[in-house]
Amino acid sequence: METTNNVMLMDHPLIQHKISMLRDKRTGTNEFRKLVEEIAVLMGYEALRDLPVEPVEIETPIEVCQSPMISGKKLAVVPILRAGLGMVNGILTLVPSAKVGHIGLCRDHKTHEPQEYYCKLPSPIEERTIAVLDPMLATGGSAEAAVDFIKTHGGKHIKFLCIIAAPEGVERLSHAHPDVQIYCGCLDRCLNADAYICPGLGDAGDRIFGTR
Ligand code: PRP
Ligand code: URA
Repeated sequence: METTNNVMLMDHPLIQHKISMLRDKRTGTNEFRKLVEEIAVLMGYEALRDLPVEPVEIETPIEVCQSPMISGKKLAVVPILRAGLGMVNGILTLVPSAKVGHIGLCRDHKTHEPQEYYCKLPSPIEERTIAVLDPMLATGGSAEAAVDFIKTHGGKHIKFLCIIAAPEGVERLSHAHPDVQIYCGCLDRCLNADAYICPGLGDAGDRIFGTR
């Protein structure tokens, strides 16, 4: 795993292999959805390594001991709609008791800036680690807006998990929110004129939900 400033590149072979399958335009909706969820599990395993644990009294068949457990109140998962929804179950596989918020953003086709259409966060959120999920970090506009919203509502400990990032998006999010750790599976070359990531995987939302 490679770390530069606040970006952690999660280049585990299992993640890289699954991302290659996602990129393939022949990969259909069903398989695409499964792969996004599996990648979220693999990324979440590492991205959540600093989740706070607390000692709990456990009685083993041998004796009573203090053993660490994650408190149910420690994590909030916040997908950016729609595509971020595809990563939620992967993280909930790891932490089933996490609360889930939603941030609905859609990029304007001309300006490529995000338009907000729905936002709801778990409350209180101040003490939780917040994992914002979106497979794609392109211009970074959606990620920046999502983190702005979460901070406005009191969120502090924020991580951003994306499967593919463009350098432009990493730069924008890091500049706007240097305190947010970015975890990404692959850092791609650039954006094209329509602000799609190259080589990327196309439109993640459409590929997860089978729309166009
Ligand atoms: C996609 C993607 C991100 C956003 C990334 O969503 O899932 O949310 O674009 O682009 P940005 O970094 O330039 O903001 P989109 O707006 O297409 O909505 P959808 O998930 O509903 O398809
Ligand atoms: N959103 C996507 O789904 N794909 C991209 O390449 C850029 C933004």
